[in-house]
Amino acid sequence: MKTDQPSKPKRSYIPHKAAAEFKPSMDWTKEQAFEEYNSRIFAQEVDKIYFEDCISGMENIQSESIDIIIADPPFGLRFNEKEALYNRDSQLVADGYLDVKIEDYTEFTYSWISKLPRIMKEDAGVWIFSGWTHLIDVLNALKDNKLTLINHIIWKYQFGVFTRRKFVTSHYHILFAVKNEKDYFFNKIEHYPEDVWHINREYNRGVKKNATKLPPDVVRRCIDFGSVPGDLILDPFIGNGTTAIVAKGSYRYYLGFEINTTLKDIISKGLEKIQVGDDYIPYCNRPDELVDKAKKKFKIK
Ligand SMILES: C[S@@+](CC[C@H](N)C(=O)[O-])C[C@H]1O[C@@H](n2cnc3c(N)ncnc32)[C@H](O)[C@@H]1O
Repeated sequence: MKTDQPSKPKRSYIPHKAAAEFKPSMDWTKEQAFEEYNSRIFAQEVDKIYFEDCISGMENIQSESIDIIIADPPFGLRFNEKEALYNRDSQLVADGYLDVKIEDYTEFTYSWISKLPRIMKEDAGVWIFSGWTHLIDVLNALKDNKLTLINHIIWKYQFGVFTRRKFVTSHYHILFAVKNEKDYFFNKIEHYPEDVWHINREYNRGVKKNATKLPPDVVRRCIDFGSVPGDLILDPFIGNGTTAIVAKGSYRYYLGFEINTTLKDIISKGLEKIQVGDDYIPYCNRPDELVDKAKKKFKIK
């Protein structure tokens, strides 16, 4: 029987249409990103690396001043980076890597994570790198400090070691946690961002560095999804300065801590090589396989 009621519009699903029409939640041209960056004013000194223990050092950071934290702590592996393990040339490995004793790892992890909530802005997030051996300590410390886990990312990479009686470890964990699960910052810059990231480690032959350097691309991914141009990033374990270098190249400000003073030179050289905003590319101009394929299908430019 027909009624006068207007019929509900049918929701029709057209495969790949959403991908073809995808736009990042927030995006900036290079000029807009520079403007955002330039308009920020801070009540504390920024773009600075403190060569001291981050656990005491973070107490001097202003409350609720940090937009995003990226932390790649020592893994507690008793990793002797001066031994030429993993095909590394020991001459090119910087001295003084500071690991944490296995028996102290739980307390160490709780200590540094407990310093984060006070300095994070209400909508800030923290991205923590962890191997699997002490993952439990990181997860417990996040929970004990009321930081809510939003994503548990697997970073798949090639390690280049061989094992006889077990599988080769070829992943790290990246834990994305927030202070306020109802109101945290996340910029969806890809149509279908999955929680397994395939990013290879770089082999810069002949370059002296701390043995555990992260590839800039993995750090950039955390920064892009977790902050906007002009934001202030903190890295409590800056190592070779990767986070600071990527931040500078992406129109972000940085603060870092590093206990190993022999890395000073490596960090300053890295920072000198890059100008503010050098690596910034608007998200809509970056290749996104799913979106590019779908656009082709629908003939959208
Ligand atoms: C895994 S590495 C970080 C590597 C860095 N993400 C990079 O890309 O170069 C950890 C760093 O934390 C430093 N470290 C260890 N304990 C620390 C502490 N309590 N405070 C500050 N830095 C510390 C180590 O010297 C080491 O350089």
